[in-house]
Amino acid sequence: CGIVGYVGPASSLDVLLGGLRRLEYRGYDSAGVAVIDDEGNLGTSKKAGKLQTLVDELAEHPVPRGGTGIGHTRWATHGGPTDVNAHPHLADGGRLAVIHNGIIENFSELRDELLAEGAEFASETDTEVAAVLLGREYRATGDLVEAFRRTVVRLDGAFTLLAVHRDSPGLVVGARRNSPLVIGLGEGENFLGSDVAAFVEHTRNAVAIGQDQIVAITADEVVVTDFDGGPVTVEPFEVAWNADAADKGGWSSFMQKEVSEQPTAVADTLRGRLHDGRVVVGELEELGDDVLRSIRRITVIACGTAAYAGMVAKYAIEKWARVPVEVELSHEFRYREPVIGPDTLVISVSQSGETMDTLMAVKYAREAGARTISVCNTQGATIPRESDAAIYTHAGPEVAVASTKAFVAQIAALYLFGLHLARVLGTASAEELETAAYELEHVPAKLATVLEQGERIAQLAHWMADTRSVLFLGRHVGYPIALEGALKLKELAYIHAEGFAAGELKHGPIALIEPGQPVFVVVPSPRNSGSLHPKVVSNIQEIRARGARVIAIAEAGDAAVLPFADEVLRIPLAGPLFEPLLAVVPLQIFAMELSAAKGLDVDQPRNLAKSVTVE
Ligand code: G6P
Repeated sequence: CGIVGYVGPASSLDVLLGGLRRLEYRGYDSAGVAVIDDEGNLGTSKKAGKLQTLVDELAEHPVPRGGTGIGHTRWATHGGPTDVNAHPHLADGGRLAVIHNGIIENFSELRDELLAEGAEFASETDTEVAAVLLGREYRATGDLVEAFRRTVVRLDGAFTLLAVHRDSPGLVVGARRNSPLVIGLGEGENFLGSDVAAFVEHTRNAVAIGQDQIVAITADEVVVTDFDGGPVTVEPFEVAWNADAADKGGWSSFMQKEVSEQPTAVADTLRGRLHDGRVVVGELEELGDDVLRSIRRITVIACGTAAYAGMVAKYAIEKWARVPVEVELSHEFRYREPVIGPDTLVISVSQSGETMDTLMAVKYAREAGARTISVCNTQGATIPRESDAAIYTHAGPEVAVASTKAFVAQIAALYLFGLHLARVLGTASAEELETAAYELEHVPAKLATVLEQGERIAQLAHWMADTRSVLFLGRHVGYPIALEGALKLKELAYIHAEGFAAGELKHGPIALIEPGQPVFVVVPSPRNSGSLHPKVVSNIQEIRARGARVIAIAEAGDAAVLPFADEVLRIPLAGPLFEPLLAVVPLQIFAMELSAAKGLDVDQPRNLAKSVTVE
């Protein structure tokens, strides 16, 4: 869910709607606002559907204008996406409005307690329970901040809560536990947001709030305390990008824009970390070489696309640093009693830095004594704050729900990690390290070449708009790319798609092949020594013999693949470990164009949200 709060001289409704527009990628099942005007009138409005539905509703039934307000855009968990279940939820006789992100696990027990006292509920949501509880505490204390303190200590689970009360115009109170909340500092105005996108068009001065903290903002003041009311130290930071970076510009979708930004995303991630063929990641220097030398194994944890970046990196890190690497989905890792200890390095990969599954896995790893490094694209996010060190990707804000530029930046960052580690451990020759650094440096220019084929891929996607199932094959680093290609197609075009390791084909999946079945195959270049090219070409022959329609992603000079493929999409020559950074791009574009050809919302596919802050 996306959350925004504002106190200041401007019309809070305008600020809230602007913020919600930028946060909509966090959830778009329903949206709502609560505004307090100068006379102390509280107006609320909420609607199921995308933000535009709320905007239309507000045009017809306006709320009072005033300088204090909170807004919410929802990704439904408890209760379907209906008007009633949308936030804000009201309590204290309609004088108090609350919005919430997360899940309050003990809500039914609290509900029973409140029902026994005669409370009434309008919805089935856990949020309303928090609102009613807050209302009770407000009546008891007459102080919104104190009431907040008394409320949040009763809540189990994960939450960001924001509240306004009619009797306290000019005040927004918020709290967070395992769920994101950032402060924006303005001049005579202050903001709260799930992430900085909520307020970046007004201010780039931000403050990250720690776990289990309460924040009260007025127009002139920001006060952060712990749940007991004790003082805390906060971390101010400057947002590295401006509002333009999160605008669509002239592009028809954010995804188109972000796909095209991939050369820059990689270049910016490499910047300052490559010095004449030598990789130095400052954040790892801070961690210390002794720590890196003590590591016996590495576990990469992540979800979705980020997990595939981890799978690609496994091949590279093991090759260069000779440390065993496993890659696991965060939610599986967390609940299987993994064998980890002080000699395990757990690297989490998360664009948002807020994915709850990954956050919980990081906390678990830390408690088990492991070292933790976060690869993250978002300043002020929770996961890097909960880790021993963070290697930031500098892909800039990613708004489209399906991840693209963050993915290639994650691979680049993980490769930097692998090369830095190999240098410290002395496991790779100077020549090997230099070649790898050289290859990395040239990825941005090569990515730009791949993007030039956008038109052709779009055409292919349009021809295939009626396709019901697509398979993806790859070997070695091409295997995670096959998985990512399939994920993109599921997410964006709602087409059944599966990725397989090409060698596994004969052990089962080949039974799926029937005449006309489209299969994308990621083909390694034949020009690299030890290339798996012959093996992959054999796999292509196996499926062709059974009628598959083969679309090969192959190196520009690879003539050997031509007789076996119905279509060939070209990528420039790169070292074997660097091919995936290029090969993924045609698959991203294909999925995006197929989605567009089907008339779907490329940036906001159904049922999904960009940052899933519940388990
Ligand atoms: C969600 C998104 C995916 C994303 C995954 C991990 O499921 O829909 O596109 O890959 O979360 O997100 P993260 O922010 O942790 O990289």
